[in-house]
Amino acid sequence: MLKKLSACVREYKRDSILTPLFIAFEVLLECILPLITASLINTLQSFSLETKTSSSGIVGGINSILMGWANGDVIVGIVFHGVILVVFAILSLSCGAIAGKTVANASAGFAKNLRHDLFYAVQDFSFANIDKFSSTSLVTRLTTDVANVQNAYMMVIRGGIRGPMMFTISIILSFQISKTVSLITLGLMLVMATFGILLFRKVMPIFKRIFKKYDKLNQSVQENVRGMRVVKAYVREDYEKDKFSAASNNLKSDFIYAEKIMAFLEPMMSSVMYIAMLFTVFIGSVIALGMAKPLGDNIQVGEISSLIQYAMQTLMSLMMLSMIFVMVTMAVESGRRITEVLDEKSTITNPENPVTVVENGSVEFRNVSFKYSEKAKRNSLSDVNLNINSGETVGILGGTGSAKSTLIQLIPRLYDTTEGEVFVGGRNVKEYDIESLRNAVSVVLQKNELFSGTIKDNLRWGNKEATDEEMKQACVLACADSFIETFPDGYDTYIEQGGSNVSGGQKQRLCIARALLKKPKILILDDSTSAVDMKTDAMIRKAFAEKIPDTTKIIIAQRVASVQDADKIVVMDGGKIVAVGKHAELMQTSDIYQDVYRSQNKEDK
Ligand SMILES: Nc1ncnc2c1ncn2[C@@H]1O[C@H](COP(=O)(O)OP(=O)(O)OP(=O)(O)O)[C@@H](O)[C@H]1O
Ligand SMILES: [Mg+2]
Repeated sequence: MLKKLSACVREYKRDSILTPLFIAFEVLLECILPLITASLINTLQSFSLETKTSSSGIVGGINSILMGWANGDVIVGIVFHGVILVVFAILSLSCGAIAGKTVANASAGFAKNLRHDLFYAVQDFSFANIDKFSSTSLVTRLTTDVANVQNAYMMVIRGGIRGPMMFTISIILSFQISKTVSLITLGLMLVMATFGILLFRKVMPIFKRIFKKYDKLNQSVQENVRGMRVVKAYVREDYEKDKFSAASNNLKSDFIYAEKIMAFLEPMMSSVMYIAMLFTVFIGSVIALGMAKPLGDNIQVGEISSLIQYAMQTLMSLMMLSMIFVMVTMAVESGRRITEVLDEKSTITNPENPVTVVENGSVEFRNVSFKYSEKAKRNSLSDVNLNINSGETVGILGGTGSAKSTLIQLIPRLYDTTEGEVFVGGRNVKEYDIESLRNAVSVVLQKNELFSGTIKDNLRWGNKEATDEEMKQACVLACADSFIETFPDGYDTYIEQGGSNVSGGQKQRLCIARALLKKPKILILDDSTSAVDMKTDAMIRKAFAEKIPDTTKIIIAQRVASVQDADKIVVMDGGKIVAVGKHAELMQTSDIYQDVYRSQNKEDK
């Protein structure tokens, strides 16, 4: 998982390396500052007492260097101290600011690459891959999960070096100054760390649970908002409100419980900090006043202030490390969900040396069986053998669930067969370059979509370079031109997401026009005129017969009238082809066809 995720850092590697470097400088300077302050206080003290007390140890070293530069002159020494304090503080701030910029670049860039890779992976998915992940789950992975990983990454490259470095240097330097005081501080920290670990162990499972529940809540909100019209039509608002409130309250209780436990953390940290300060000041003063000679430490007032600062820095670094731990633990689950998508291999890929030209519009199914997943017990399609000549019009009829859509999805290789082979233009579909095949085989899917944008934008999905004239021709063929012209903005009318501002029949006709713009060798309409009135349906078929006679047309329909004139009618039942023939033949030979015909033409009886 780590390898896969870190591969997404790419061009932001430089920023990701610079961040800890600048942070390291910042920490180093921050740790030196208390020493200079201590030396300054010691100088001030010796000045006010007018006695030359010489400090020892590391602070003493700094003091003697600076006082050496000042030739022992206390006033000049104080000015030197001040200047160096300011310079160090500015340097430390600058390092912090630069690190802030690089960390923002690195983490935002990393997240951008993650989203990019995820999106591209999803674009390569076949229908079978899409069946595996639900669309809402893919949206959550692209948004919330990426944000979690981004936050964790930011914490790690910033705090991953800051926490341990600050902790180590502060401890070492404070030991240099006074072993006794440092040991006491360290002891207090250990007590606090133990408490902290106990607290996290209790609270982490709750946070993990909360994240899972968040996911569910997101999914339910997305589903509800998408299906808002259906919710209203079924007057299910109250039920949906209750469902949402229950989920939301449940989440609230978990949050309150977790936060209640976490609420202990802050007072605990503050108490430990104040106790540490108290001890430092008390013991430090005792030692400084020379009342604790047996402890072997020799410190002065200035050093007490640096001991307090080191105690605080140690505590801060501990807090930072614990935050990183929490963020990373939370992001692991998100990282896993992201890599699951990145690792998913498309079930349909281009062959080596693919064929890019589809010779003609013939189709052949040879002993084809198909099931949607390996685990499925039954085949959705069994033992299909079918021959369609180029330029023929073929109707497919059958009850719901008889696998009509399943059958036609195998032609443009939206799914691969489980057994047997499908041939288009005399070649196995698996030999073609997928894009070339799908350009030659244009399908108007049963569950079709329009996208937000103008009518022209939507039509150009069929052909990027289509001229206005070509678009108009396609729309005339699909009987869409007449209603588009009635819109005030004509072909520039804006289509809302999902085509919600056009009628069902209008949407279907726009989808047909879009498919026609590909100028395909094979045109497949999967129940694409179900919402169109009978007269317009007949007009579309007539236009097809006259204007695109060479294109193979495969039309799935519920109405016999829609396929009656076809060269060939395929009757399907229970995933099998049960009859093939012209209308007149089928009226003689197929019981199912006769039943369907009679039920739709009662007045003829
Ligand atoms: N994506 C899918 N995953 C799993 N099973 C599916 C999927 N799509 C369809 N099926 C199943 O395959 C069978 C055939 O479905 P198909 O959509 O091909 O029927 P259809 O003849 O087109 O029906 P309709 O007239 O209602 O459109 C059904 O039993 C259905 O439950
Ligand atoms: Mg169908």
